Amino acid sequence: MASNILISTLLFFCLYGATCYGKVHFSTLQNSLVVTASPKHGSVIKTGEDKITVTWGLNQSFPASTAVAFHEIKVKLCFAPISQKDRAWRKTKDELLKDKTCQFNVVHRPYDPASDKAKVQSFEWLVERDVPTATYFVRAYAFNSEGHEIAYGQTTDAEKKTNLFDIHGISGRHASINIAAGVFSAFSVVSLCAFFYAEKRKAR
Ligand SMILES: *[C@@H]1O[C@H](CO)[C@@H](O)[C@H](O)[C@H]1NC(C)=O
Repeated sequence: MASNILISTLLFFCLYGATCYGKVHFSTLQNSLVVTASPKHGSVIKTGEDKITVTWGLNQSFPASTAVAFHEIKVKLCFAPISQKDRAWRKTKDELLKDKTCQFNVVHRPYDPASDKAKVQSFEWLVERDVPTATYFVRAYAFNSEGHEIAYGQTTDAEKKTNLFDIHGISGRHASINIAAGVFSAFSVVSLCAFFYAEKRKAR
């Protein structure tokens, strides 16, 4: 009985998890997508304010049949090596389930076969406020109908040295919270003094 439950649990994870499919490694993916992002190398983007336009499509050096298996495209924002240094929680791993390079979703879209005909797809993304200040590039993954990565493309080169841009969180938000806290504590000191002054006058 217990072993039946164990077996069916294992089967469940085999069918619905990635374990039975085999782990997908980045090095096995085909670099057949061409991806661009609007920021120029070295530019500074502000979270909550600035927008990034990303485009993706099939590299025209590949036959259109390459994209037949493309089911969905996921575009992600990824840490450049300089922002991964000494940060284990952003580390690059070849096994994609363990890879921490690309932690922020830009957009998920079904793959549009029209983009095979040299027509790129694009998306304008307002950089979300929870994106930490760091240096980034953009990568897109093509998924097959089973939900596994089969191809990719990125805005930077293989060494991740070109076309990197910086995203800066807005520190002004913290500054205004500090100012508000200061105003409130000053107000409470003043009202406490006023209270004692009033009490003293009443007592006299
Ligand atoms: C398209 O793929 C070819 C062959 O892999 C490569 O040489 C070329 O740089 C790629 N084009 C773009 C725009 O990435």
